[in-house]
Amino acid sequence: MFKSDTYIQRRKDLVKHLGSGIALFLGNDESPMNYKDNTYHFRQDSSFLYFFGVDRPGLGAIIDVDSDQTIIFGDEHTIDDIVWMGSVPSIADQASHVGVKTVLPLEKLVGTLGQALSKKQSIHYLPPYRQDNAIKLHKLLDKKLPDIANDWSPSLVKAVISLRAHKTDEEIQQIEKALRITKDMHLAAIGLAKDGLTEAHLTGAAHGVSTTANVALAYPMILTVNGQTLHNHFHGNTLKKGQLVLADLGAESPLHYASDITRTFPVAKTFTNQQKEVYEIVLKSQLLAIDMLKPGVRYRDVHLSACRIITEGLKSLGLMKGDTDEAIKNGAHAMFFPHGLGHMIGLDVHDMEDLGEKLVGYDSKTERSDQFGLKSLRLARELEAGHVLTVEPGIYFIPELIDRWQAENRCAEFIDFEKLKAYRNFGGIRIEDDCVMTQNGGRVLGEPIPKSIAEIEALRN
Ligand code: GLY
Ligand code: MN
Ligand code: MN
Repeated sequence: MFKSDTYIQRRKDLVKHLGSGIALFLGNDESPMNYKDNTYHFRQDSSFLYFFGVDRPGLGAIIDVDSDQTIIFGDEHTIDDIVWMGSVPSIADQASHVGVKTVLPLEKLVGTLGQALSKKQSIHYLPPYRQDNAIKLHKLLDKKLPDIANDWSPSLVKAVISLRAHKTDEEIQQIEKALRITKDMHLAAIGLAKDGLTEAHLTGAAHGVSTTANVALAYPMILTVNGQTLHNHFHGNTLKKGQLVLADLGAESPLHYASDITRTFPVAKTFTNQQKEVYEIVLKSQLLAIDMLKPGVRYRDVHLSACRIITEGLKSLGLMKGDTDEAIKNGAHAMFFPHGLGHMIGLDVHDMEDLGEKLVGYDSKTERSDQFGLKSLRLARELEAGHVLTVEPGIYFIPELIDRWQAENRCAEFIDFEKLKAYRNFGGIRIEDDCVMTQNGGRVLGEPIPKSIAEIEALRN
């Protein structure tokens, strides 16, 4: 945990933003895999961690803005729990570490909220993303279950986003701790790759690094010779010389801050000329995008500038043609770069996505597009100091998408489908780093992780 002042200050700031009513936070429960006591890895809810820091299942908490009272609700371990799971610090002890003096049994949450409802206090809650918490809210607030998904509090959501979106130095330190581990995960995978091993050998090596560091993954590993499939979690392919491996890996820090790094490297000791040419375009677009980061700049414009470099680059390879601005306006480049340039990162890898991508990543000046490609841009808003975000352009050759567009003659004035035939089995390249916004611009977080062609080839040798 951070020191208690951190949590006390966060709750004070929340009270200031909210003004009145009660903010109700539900922690996460254990989640069964196949029967109740055989559970997935436990992950506490991120907003609960942010305001209360207590990392165990079975908790709820309220901040009563009207009476200036904070209570954590939960049940201490019984002797049976201790026999099976060992003894853990009491909730009261953990609560006092985060500056919360009042801890009550979980069953008291119903009565406390019932009283608040009878006094016509408004009860604010965040949109639940787990069904068990939706059911709990339905019972606690005496609301119909289908209404729970819609009746969350916009004012609480906005308040939480405005606080969590700006990272403090101690939060940045956590992200950099995670990145130290993630760097070693990448080095382990890049160093091991060779013809005849499977993707699973590499994920095993990378996972060994995070397991040895005693931290969890921030998201399931993407490590694949089919990098053109954006969120590919299959690890059964055998590596062959001539293929590229796309590895998108990120460990959590001990306090559950995420990191999110992608590197792409050859199974052979060197890239082929074709791979080098595409790699250089992606790298150029990433470096330009990082260079553009400044408070006041809209991330949508950074995304579009990266699209420009990608389009120009693909034109120089003969894969795209025509006027660059027109091609981008028509979304032609999105056949090669169908996702957004990045997203906020913090306690979640896609930070606060549970609170609504549009509220986190867009502002009143920035509309979300519905065009293929641009619609997947998670972060578009004006950047501010303290934001932490990913910069992750890519170029992908997705055979099914190419065939579909060719059959539809879509963007045929901007794409040379004939020349593309030589790239059909290319796969994909993504290069991703995590950056913090300072008053002076963006800073890439963590120790540098090799990304130039020369650096990657040096590691492969
Ligand atoms: N690791 C998932 C992403 O880059 O968004
Ligand atoms: Mn990412
Ligand atoms: Mn990633």
